[in-house]
Amino acid sequence: MGVIDDIKERLDIVDVIGAYVPLKKAGRTYKGLCPFHNEKTPSFIVFPDTGTWHCFGACNIGGDVFSFVMRRENMEFGEALRLLAQRAGVTLEPQREGEAAETRQRDRVLKINQLAAEYFHYLLMNAPDAAGPRDYLTRRGINEETRKSHQLGYSRDDWHALGQNLTAKGYTPADLMEAGLVIEKKEGGHYDRFRGRLMFPIRDPRGNTVGFGARALDDSIPKYMNSPQTGVFDKSGVLYGIDKARDAIRDEGYVVIVEGYMDVLMAHQCGRRNVVASMGTALTDKQVRIIKKLAKKLVLALDPDAAGNQATVRGLDVAKEAFDRKPVPVLTARGLVRYEDQLDAEIRVVELPAGQDPDEVLKEDVGKWDALVSGALPVVEYYLRNAVARFDLKSPKGKGAAAREVLPLIQEISSSVERAHYLQQLAHLLRVDERALQQELERKGTRLHPRGGQTEAAAAGSDSAAGRGTTERVGRLSAQPGLTCGLEQYVLLLLLKRPDVLDLMNRALLDLGMEPLGAEDIGDSEKRALFIALVEQIQAGGTVQVETLRRELVPSLLRTLEEAQASLEKVASLSDEWVEIDAVHRALMLREQKLRRRMEELRFLQEDARSQQDGEAAKQWGHMVDDLADQLVRLQRDKAARTSLKGPRAGHTLE
Ligand code: CTP
Ligand code: MN
Repeated sequence: MGVIDDIKERLDIVDVIGAYVPLKKAGRTYKGLCPFHNEKTPSFIVFPDTGTWHCFGACNIGGDVFSFVMRRENMEFGEALRLLAQRAGVTLEPQREGEAAETRQRDRVLKINQLAAEYFHYLLMNAPDAAGPRDYLTRRGINEETRKSHQLGYSRDDWHALGQNLTAKGYTPADLMEAGLVIEKKEGGHYDRFRGRLMFPIRDPRGNTVGFGARALDDSIPKYMNSPQTGVFDKSGVLYGIDKARDAIRDEGYVVIVEGYMDVLMAHQCGRRNVVASMGTALTDKQVRIIKKLAKKLVLALDPDAAGNQATVRGLDVAKEAFDRKPVPVLTARGLVRYEDQLDAEIRVVELPAGQDPDEVLKEDVGKWDALVSGALPVVEYYLRNAVARFDLKSPKGKGAAAREVLPLIQEISSSVERAHYLQQLAHLLRVDERALQQELERKGTRLHPRGGQTEAAAAGSDSAAGRGTTERVGRLSAQPGLTCGLEQYVLLLLLKRPDVLDLMNRALLDLGMEPLGAEDIGDSEKRALFIALVEQIQAGGTVQVETLRRELVPSLLRTLEEAQASLEKVASLSDEWVEIDAVHRALMLREQKLRRRMEELRFLQEDARSQQDGEAAKQWGHMVDDLADQLVRLQRDKAARTSLKGPRAGHTLE
């Protein structure tokens, strides 16, 4: 038995979840208020028989005891594993070489940061030489309570104040360098990095101080400085204020993303706590990944100039600016749309009044801020209007230019219904025939997504060359050697070999009106963790870095990975086209399995309701069963259509 199963067997899922959520027995299941969304009637259910939970309300998510802890505690799989192993009294295999030392070093840096934050905060609140900074905060409207809750600080205008304070506590200059707090001089010795600045401790979602932002109090350049990249600080992967905003984001169901420290402070001070800052950069994928664990709705509060930025709309994937303001890859409009698809997220954009930062709007009129946020436009619509506004739509040339600018964005949308909606909107704005735009889109489609385009045409059963081509391939398929491994394992290795097929898999599901592949599509806990890690890498960079996976994964997962890799060689001989067609097929199968697992849960509930003669509830579960059955039928039809046309036929499936 694997360590995961061992833990699951020893722990009672009702106990573990019951520690977070009051649960009431209802037949063979337990019910409670969902901890992941706000609700008044319980729709969160734990199934001791299958060791699973599910929210049948607004979130419609579920999983096992690991996924519950991951979600609730905002932990990675490895962390949840350690936590639950400890609870279950299961010893995990020795950590890989050096890992214990790394963890110790990381904890040490976090501790140093925490002490530094406390020291800076003490100075700001008490030191005579911090009168200036205190006045400054008062002028900016930041009150005492906010200074305390966000542990704002002041770094003395002195070369050694912090260094001396921390070495007196037993830390070495090398430790302080590692934390990015001191800088080494060429001629030997060290000096404080932050001097004479207002200090903003930057925390991770769990409240660890990972670094600092530091604002000058006069107009010295640079206005802002940050901790350098350290073992614990990666500017593109943090969100200022997330530790304080976390619960509010979960409760409200959405997050507002602003640019600056001051904006977050003012928002929180005004009771708008679901606000975090991307710290001057456009949103990065790492930041999106932190957020998506909390909410699926994002509102970006952008400067008007950032919004009108043409480069963004054109889709440069990495924009670097001349100076250090935007040093990381930015998420473009197209990137955002892709995220919406992949994460099943909704991204809206709000444009601020010219020349006003969020902190100013908030200070002036909170109601105005609320109105702006609630009036935010869906990202595609936002860019559509923006792009269209820049062209002379009376001239045919202007119309053409506007269309060329917006179509790539529409192209990015994988749901055909949504795509059609925006195409209509664009046609309306440009006053041109929608079919002309459609044609333009298809032309682009083959260029932008050569593979996706082909498969789509084939899937639609068109008699195009692509369609015939795929039918012919079936002949070659039957020559492929059979493989012996489970579906989930197989999908993992598919993704290792061909990360790009993830997109095709998700598109197929989206075209059926279903969500993209997610954690719950993988039933096995270990494989699921590996799947999540793979998907995150693919979404972040389009590729899979096996070495990074190796470094980041816990030992038991590593074995799963190695097993998958061993079988990887077996598929090395398969053709690209075959892999693409097959991948979609597998995605549909995975989803089918997930729905069947859900169905099983629902049957429990139905039985229970019946045995308790709760007709109303039985009916309600019955509706859900019907809905699932309906989805299953759609999946099976689609699968059959694909198989008859081009898919791997029965007889040489891989299981
Ligand atoms: N920023 C940064 N590093 C820089 C410049 C900016 O981290 N070198 C981040 C900070 O989080 C800052 C945000 O980008 O709050 C926005 O920058 P900017 O508009 O220059 O500053 P404001 O937030 O408007 O600062 P203030 O209101 O204090 O003038
Ligand atoms: Mn400002």
